[in-house]
Amino acid sequence: MWLSNSSVGRKFIMAITGAVLVLFLTFHCLMNAVAIAWPAAYNSVCLFLGANWYALIASAGLAAFIVVHIIYAVMLTLQNRRARGHERYAVSHRPKSVEWSSQNMLVLGIVILAFLVVHMIQFWAKMQLVEILGEHTKIPAAAGTLFLQEAFQQPWTLIVYCIGFIALWFHLNHGIWSMFQSVGWDSTVWIPRLKKIGAWWCSIVVVLFIAEAVVFTVNANRHFYLNDPELREQYKDMVVPEYEDDFGPAAVQALSSASYDDYVQMVKGQYQQMQNPQAASYFGDKYEGMINFLQHQVDFIDYLESHPAVDEEAVAPSTGVAAPSTQK
Ligand code: HEM
Repeated sequence: MWLSNSSVGRKFIMAITGAVLVLFLTFHCLMNAVAIAWPAAYNSVCLFLGANWYALIASAGLAAFIVVHIIYAVMLTLQNRRARGHERYAVSHRPKSVEWSSQNMLVLGIVILAFLVVHMIQFWAKMQLVEILGEHTKIPAAAGTLFLQEAFQQPWTLIVYCIGFIALWFHLNHGIWSMFQSVGWDSTVWIPRLKKIGAWWCSIVVVLFIAEAVVFTVNANRHFYLNDPELREQYKDMVVPEYEDDFGPAAVQALSSASYDDYVQMVKGQYQQMQNPQAASYFGDKYEGMINFLQHQVDFIDYLESHPAVDEEAVAPSTGVAAPSTQK
């Protein structure tokens, strides 16, 4: 088959899959920006993109593009090395100015892949995968901002992400313009232009990713995502529907209309009452499930309250951006 057997066909596949991945990354850094401007809206997007059929199809498609891109990258590199023998870069008519990135696309890709493995463990495995498996974990799968908290409160996360972003910049800086060349757009007028557009595009995407990672690190270390009142209300709304199975619709209604603080009182009060030996005989077979469920909810509340806000008064509720101090 032309696409897999010929060098031109393989480059064509690299270009098409690469273009899709560039578009995904552009969308991804814009979506992350929502978490800076409006963290609660970010969680709503996470809820929307959870394990619904359309999100699952998009994720499976994306995974397929990533896998094909990697397989063809390895095939092309091996083919180039076989063709050139040990003198990998001794193509005599290649200009001296040949970019460092173009010679190191595979290595850069491996660094990005390593970053991606860490990234998937920190986010995807705890969000979409948990939903697919139907598991109940301490943090609700749609609470994206709590996973930002978990990831970016680790001091090494920012370092690992910045290494990934730098590798991504070099990879895209070469990849964006060369994918046009691979599909036959080899004009001497357009290639220099495409190089400029590619450099700008990847710089904007990568700078945005770096800025986001820095803001998330600062906010996580202030424990903003645990303590912000608007986010806490939202976390409460995420778990309340789960009360239906054990406590019925009336409980869901009462808890839904309660404020976060009232919710905490009600759940902790109920948990205390359930410790009473009479509760076990009153609820019979249902008791075990109810007490386990309440224990899980109390653990979640304790988790949210485990780290008070570092500068509580300086946190503007909706944005997470420090509000001007009123103290002299
Ligand atoms: C500040 C940097 C970043 C943050 C905070 C971030 C955050 C996230 C979050 C919250 C998810 C959602 C997980 C889910 O719902 O399953 C996700 C998914 C993902 N991210 Fe990132 N991300 C960042 C950078 C990157 C970069 C640079 C790449 C690629 C090199 C990347 C690749 C992915 C992929 C492939 C997915 C899975 C998408 C899917 O399941 O459809 N992310 N990321």
